[in-house]
Amino acid sequence: MRKYIVAGNWKMNNDLPQTEVLISNLKKQTQNSNAEVMIAPTYTSLWHAFEALRQSNVEVIAQNMHFAENGAYTGEVSAAMLKSVGIKTVILGHSERRAYFNETDELLAKKVNAALDHNMRVIFCFGEELADRKSGNHQQVVETQIIKALFHLEAAAFGNIVLAYEPVWAIGTGETASPEQAQDMHAFIRKTLVRKYGNDVANSVSILYGGSVKPNNAKEIFSKPDVDGGLIGGAALNAEDFYAIVNAF
Ligand code: PGA
Repeated sequence: MRKYIVAGNWKMNNDLPQTEVLISNLKKQTQNSNAEVMIAPTYTSLWHAFEALRQSNVEVIAQNMHFAENGAYTGEVSAAMLKSVGIKTVILGHSERRAYFNETDELLAKKVNAALDHNMRVIFCFGEELADRKSGNHQQVVETQIIKALFHLEAAAFGNIVLAYEPVWAIGTGETASPEQAQDMHAFIRKTLVRKYGNDVANSVSILYGGSVKPNNAKEIFSKPDVDGGLIGGAALNAEDFYAIVNAF
C-alpha cells in the first residue's frame, strides 16, 4: 500500500517567532486521517520546528538543498547539514526553484542523488506551464521532467521517492486542476513509471497533487484513485485550514 501524505510547504514565510505561533496552533489540531503529515519551514526555523514537533506525528522537512557535500557554495545548505538538525526529507524541483533559481533537470538529478546518498526521502516536484497545457504538450513535458531527473535511478531508490505533480498554472493562483485533470495526469505518471520500472514500483510510489489545494476542494481531489496526497502552499500557513486538508482523507 502506498502512503498518503499531506505536506505543507511554507516557502519564504514565517520567521522564528511566527514559526513558534504556527506550530503551537498546529499542535492544537486533531487528526482524523491516516495521512502522513509534514511541514517544510524555512532553513532558519528548521531546528526549532524539529525540536518543537519531536514528540508529534508531524515530520519537519526541508524545502531545498545543495548537491555538494560541503565547500565553497556561499548561501547553500547540504544534505548532511539538514540531517544534523534531524531532517530526513527534502522537497526538490519545486517550480519556484526551477523558475527563479534556474534549476534544471540535470541539476535536479544531482540533488536527487545527493539526497538519496544520505538516505533522505525526496519529494520531487514537476509540472507543466499554462502554455504547455494549452498546446496539449503537458504530458510530454511532465514525462521529460521525470525521465531526466529520476530515470537514471535503480528501482530500489524509489522507496525514498515521492512525486508531486504541481501544474505551474495552479500554484498560488487560486486555480486548481480539476480532480479529473489531476487524476488523468497522475495515471499517466504511474504508467510512465510502469514502462520503466514495472508495476510494483509504480504502484508503491506516492504521487501528490499540488496547486491551490484548499479545505473546500481537497476532498474531491484526494478521492481520485491515483492521487495520494497533496503538497500545500498558501493553505499550510493556517493551522485550521491545513488540518482541514489533512482530514479530507
Ligand atoms: P499553493 O502552493 O497551494 O499556494 O498553490 C503549492 C505549492 O507551491 O507547493
